[in-house]
Amino acid sequence: MKAKIMGAGSYVPHKVVSNAMLEKMMDTNDEWIRTRTGIETRHISEGENTSVLCGKAAMDILEKTGISAKEIDFIIVATMTPDGLSPSTACLVQDYIGAKPIMAFDVNAACSGFIYALSIGEKLIQSGTFQYGLILGGEVMSKIIDWQDRSTAVLFGDGAGGILLSATETENSFLGEDIHSDGSRGESLTAGSHLVTNFHTKENLENRFLQMDGRSIFDFAIRSVPESIRTVVESSNYTLGEVDCIVAHQANYRILQAIAKKLKIPVELFATNIAKYGNTSAASIPILLDELLTNGDLVLGSKKKIVLTGFGGGLTWGSMLIQL
Ligand code: ACO
Repeated sequence: MKAKIMGAGSYVPHKVVSNAMLEKMMDTNDEWIRTRTGIETRHISEGENTSVLCGKAAMDILEKTGISAKEIDFIIVATMTPDGLSPSTACLVQDYIGAKPIMAFDVNAACSGFIYALSIGEKLIQSGTFQYGLILGGEVMSKIIDWQDRSTAVLFGDGAGGILLSATETENSFLGEDIHSDGSRGESLTAGSHLVTNFHTKENLENRFLQMDGRSIFDFAIRSVPESIRTVVESSNYTLGEVDCIVAHQANYRILQAIAKKLKIPVELFATNIAKYGNTSAASIPILLDELLTNGDLVLGSKKKIVLTGFGGGLTWGSMLIQL
């Protein structure tokens, strides 16, 4: 059996926080944020947790594809900001959308989470056991941000997106993948540590906040991502010149520029919406994909080749070559 992308959807919280608003909260400025990252605004949740953002993105997907919640056979949610450790966010989404008591589980690969979830979803569909699967990426990054730490607070936003996979006999959306992890460098980005101690103090509880060595993540991204993009394309017997669009994790516009330069391809090949949403971690790829499909820049069935590529905490990184 083959896996086909049927459609996409997304949801972001209504509250928009501009760089100017952040200037009033911390020692930062619009010029620094724009020039170092490309970010102008981000959406921040006012009480909607990750399962609600994912549930609303799922409803958007179902509406756009005309498939009912009762037809869905599994749900995978990629997130590093679940509502809690249990129940999983995917189980809460199963209930939220009114799906049958199907298989539902979370995957955590930080900003690469959507790539990981999509890879698993494709294999589940290929098994021939399932007809329809929802692959979602959703984050409320604002709940793990230390809003006094300007080096991380200006970067992230909240949101959710996803796609619907369907089993078909003929049309295969997935041409190749290249997915990795390196836990030895995991300390570069940590969040939500559960320390082994019986006597919690305020100090060690503060480890729940996201902490990032921005410079080393930047260097890791511009070294690993070009290699991964080249590998996934060439190992699938295509050339970079045959790729129509690259939908990369939206962490920093300068990272996209550096990746393009290394691959000697125009930066315009990289779709981007980081200015509006900031870094929404596992949600950034599906939110962008949904935007491109909704505004007609990408068309399902057009046979165009696109690369999805993610990188982030773990460390994790990976790319998939997709035929629309
Ligand atoms: N406003 C103003 N000044 C700031 C701010 C801010 N918000 N943040 C830092 N600065 C200052 C620093 O203190 C430093 O000042 P100094 O020179 O006086 O010491 C100066 O700006 C430069 O700081 P750098 O950290 O060197 O800035 P850099 O150019 O490296 O940009 C950034 C930082 C944007 C974080 C960049 O390193 C980056 O994008 N890294 C990658 C992050 C990423 O991709 N994460 C993805 C994974 S996320 C995930 O998996 C969940």
